[in-house]
Amino acid sequence: MVASKHLLSLSSVFAAVANAKYAQGYPPNVTLSNQTASMYQLSEDSEFAFILNEYASLANEGGAASSEILRAAAKIEPGNLESWYSEFNYLADQIHAMGEKAEKRNAFVSAREAYFRSSAYYRAADFFLHGNLSDPRIYTLWDQQHRDFDKAVSLLHQPAIKIELNATGFTIPTYFYPADPTLPGQKRVHGERVPTIIVGTGYDGSQEALYHSSCRGIVERGWNCITYEGPGQPTVRRNQNIGFIPEWWEVITPIVDYLHTRNDVDVDRLALIGLSFGGLLAPLAATREHRFAAVLAIDGLLDIQAAFKQQFPADMIELYNSGNETGFNEYVEAVLAIPTIPTEFRWVIDQGMFAWNTTNPYTWFDAAGKIFLNAEKIANIKGPVFVASGEDDHMAPGQPEEMARLFVQDRRWRWRALCPWC
Ligand SMILES: *[C@@H]1O[C@H](CO)[C@@H](O)[C@H](O)[C@H]1NC(C)=O
Ligand SMILES: *[C@@H]1O[C@H](CO)[C@@H](O)[C@H](O)[C@H]1NC(C)=O
Ligand SMILES: *[C@@H]1O[C@H](CO)[C@@H](O)[C@H](O)[C@H]1NC(C)=O
Ligand SMILES: *[C@@H]1O[C@H](CO)[C@@H](O)[C@H](O)[C@H]1NC(C)=O
Ligand SMILES: *[C@@H]1O[C@H](CO)[C@@H](O)[C@H](O)[C@H]1NC(C)=O
Ligand SMILES: *[C@@H]1O[C@H](CO)[C@@H](O)[C@H](O)[C@H]1NC(C)=O
Repeated sequence: MVASKHLLSLSSVFAAVANAKYAQGYPPNVTLSNQTASMYQLSEDSEFAFILNEYASLANEGGAASSEILRAAAKIEPGNLESWYSEFNYLADQIHAMGEKAEKRNAFVSAREAYFRSSAYYRAADFFLHGNLSDPRIYTLWDQQHRDFDKAVSLLHQPAIKIELNATGFTIPTYFYPADPTLPGQKRVHGERVPTIIVGTGYDGSQEALYHSSCRGIVERGWNCITYEGPGQPTVRRNQNIGFIPEWWEVITPIVDYLHTRNDVDVDRLALIGLSFGGLLAPLAATREHRFAAVLAIDGLLDIQAAFKQQFPADMIELYNSGNETGFNEYVEAVLAIPTIPTEFRWVIDQGMFAWNTTNPYTWFDAAGKIFLNAEKIANIKGPVFVASGEDDHMAPGQPEEMARLFVQDRRWRWRALCPWC
C-alpha cells in the first residue's frame, strides 16, 4: 500500500535522527509526528494511523468492522509494535471464536462474516513484525489468516477457486472469484464468458485484502475477478523465500494463460489492476504481456527507489550513490537501533528487506531500483492505461502525473491514457 501513503513526516524527523547517529549517547528527541492529512488520524503514530485507516476501509466490503478497528485504535500505544500485535491478535482470536460457534450451528453466513474479519485481523497482527525474520509469528499468523480466509471464501454464494499456478522458478497462489450470474435486472446464462479482472497488490499488501477492496464489487457487477501474489508478496515470500523480481510479466503471463483455459472468461476483455506499488508492477508486466483490454495503475508509479530517495536523508542517499555499501548499512542499522525512530522509517526498511528476501539494507535498496518504468519501456504497452493519483500522496508525489504524460507523449499508439490533467 506504499504508493498512497504519507511518508512526509520522515523528512522532517530525519535530520534529528541522522545527526543523532554521529553523536554517540546523544538522545535523539524524535517524537511521533502528526501529518497533514485529509483523513481523520486514528493514532498519534502516523504510520499506525495510516494502516488503521487501511483496515478500516475494508469494513465497507466485509473485511473488518469499523467498531472493532476503532476499539483497536483506542488501545494501541503509538510507536509500540508489540501493542499493535497484541490488540489485533486479541481481536482476531475473539472473532475467530465467533466464526467457529456460528459454523457449529450451521449459521454459515455469520461464520463467513466472522472468518473474513478474523482473517483480516490476523493479517493486521502480523503487519509490523517483519523486523525480526526469526519471529515465528510471521508464519503462524499467516497460517491462521489463510485458514480463516479459506473457510470464508468456501462459504461464499459462489465459492472462490484457489489455484496455485506454475511459473518459471516459483508458483503463483491465486483466488478466482466467479461472476455473480444473478445480476439485478438481467438474465445471464450460467457459465457465459464474461470480462475478467486480474488484481494485484504492492509492497506489503495481501491478495486476501483484495477480495474486499476489489473483487467483491467486481463479481457483484457480473464480471470474474482473480487475485494473485508474486515473489516478494506475502505468501510467496514466506513459502518460497523469493523476493521481488523486475520481470513481473513472468508472474502475469501464467495467470493470463490460465484464464485462457477457462470457459467462463471472455479473453478479449481482460484487465489488469495494480494497486500501490502494484501501480508500477502491473504496467511493467504489460510491457511484455499484451493480452489486455486495459491496464489500471492505482496509483501510477514509475520508480520506487526514486521515491525513497526523495524521502530519506541526503547523507544516507549519498552513501548509496557513492556505492559505499558498508557506510550505507552502518547508517541504516544505527538509525534502526534508535528505539524512538518513527514507525514509518522502521517499517519501510524492515518490510523492504523482508520483501526482497535480504538482511542487507543496501541489497534491498539497490534491488528496489531495478524495478522501474521509463518512456522506452512504456512504449511497449499496447492498450489503454488508466493512471490514478491519490489525494495527499506524499510517497511519490508527481509520479502518477509523470506516468500519464509518458503515455500521452507516446504517439506511436492510437490510444491515450485517461489523464484529465494532461
Ligand atoms: C532531548 O531531550 C532531553 C530530555 O528531555 C533534553 O535534556 C535534551 O536537551 C534534548 N536535546 C535536544 C537536542 O533537544
Ligand atoms: C497530534 O495531534 C493530537 C490531536 O490533535 C495532539 O493531541 C498531539 O499532541 C499531536 N502530537 C504531536 C506530536 O504533534
Ligand atoms: C527475534 O525473534 C526470536 C524468536 O522469537 C527471538 O528469540 C529473538 O530474541 C528476536 N530477536 C530480536 C533482536 O529481538
Ligand atoms: C504445476 O506443475 C506440477 C508439476 O509439474 C503439476 O503437477 C501441476 O498440475 C501444475 N499445476 C498447474 C495448475 O498447472
Ligand atoms: C532467500 O534468503 C534465504 C536466506 O538468506 C536464502 O537461503 C534463499 O536462497 C533466498 N532465496 C533466493 C531465491 O535467493
Ligand atoms: C563509507 O562510509 C563510511 C561512513 O561514512 C566512511 O567512514 C568510509 O570511509 C566510507 N568508505 C568509502 C570507501 O568511502
